[in-house]
Amino acid sequence: MKDQFTVVGVISSPRPQGNTAVMVREALKGAKEEGAIVEEVFLADMKMEFCMGCLTCLKNGKCCIADDFNALRDLLYNADAIILGSPTYGANVNAIMKNLVDRLGMYEVATSSLGGKYIAGISAANSAAAAKKTAKTLSHFGNTGTFSRTYTSGFLGAGFSGGRQASKEKDILRKARLLGKKVADDIKEVRKYPFQNIQGRIISSMFMRPAFSKYIIENKEADAKVIYSSLKNRNLLT
Ligand SMILES: Cc1cc2nc3c(=O)[nH]c(=O)nc-3n(C[C@H](O)[C@H](O)[C@H](O)COP(=O)(O)O)c2cc1C
Repeated sequence: MKDQFTVVGVISSPRPQGNTAVMVREALKGAKEEGAIVEEVFLADMKMEFCMGCLTCLKNGKCCIADDFNALRDLLYNADAIILGSPTYGANVNAIMKNLVDRLGMYEVATSSLGGKYIAGISAANSAAAAKKTAKTLSHFGNTGTFSRTYTSGFLGAGFSGGRQASKEKDILRKARLLGKKVADDIKEVRKYPFQNIQGRIISSMFMRPAFSKYIIENKEADAKVIYSSLKNRNLLT
C-alpha cells in the first residue's frame, strides 16, 4: 500500500474555466480527498514549441528545444498517475495535447519512461459520444509501452451541447470526482490490470521489444547509450 503519491492533471483546453478544465480539477479534488498530492498543468500557459523530429532526445535523453517541455516531462516522470484532459476538436484530442504527445515522442517509445503509471482520460465535446471516444483514447496513452506499460484507471467524456457548462452539471462533477478517487485508489492498491490491451501488448512484446532491445544493446556504447542506461537503471533490459 502506497501512502505518499502524486497525481498530475494536464489540461490542454485553452479555456481556463472551460469544461475540460472544470472536470480535470474535480478529478484532482477526488484524488486529493484520497490522499494524493495533486498538481495541475495548464498547457496553454506553457511555452511549448512543436517537435522538430530531430530525434536528439534519443541521443541526449532530453529535448534540445529550450522551452518548458523538459521540466514538464520531469514532472510527469515523477508522478504516480496522470489525468490527461483535452477538449474534443475535430473528433480527436486538440493540437495542444497532440503536441505534448509528440514532444514525449520517440524517447517515450524507446524508454517506456511513463511505464507503471496510472492514466485517466477526460474530454469535453458538444457530442457525448465524441467526448467519450477522445477520453478513452487518452486513457490508453502508453498502454503498449515497449518495455513497460501504463495502466488505464478510467475515462470520462461528456457532451455539453447548447452551451451547457460542466460547472453546473452535478452528475458530471460527481463522475469526475469519482474518477480522481479511482486513480488514487489504483495507486494505493498497486493494481496491475493484467488483461488491459493484452493483444497490443503481445504484438509489442513479439516485435517491438526484441527489435529495440537488439538495437539498444548493439549500440549501448554509441547512439543508444542514454536509452540503454535508462532501461538498465529500471531493470527493463533483459
Ligand atoms: C476547433 C473546434 C473543434 C471542435 N470539434 C468538435 C467535434 O469534433 N465534436 C464535438 O462534439 N465537439 C467539437 N467541438 C466543441 C468542443 O469540444 C466543446 O465546445 C468543448 O466544450 C470544448 O472544451 P472546453 O470547454 O474544455 O474548452 C469543437 C470545438 C472547437 C473550438
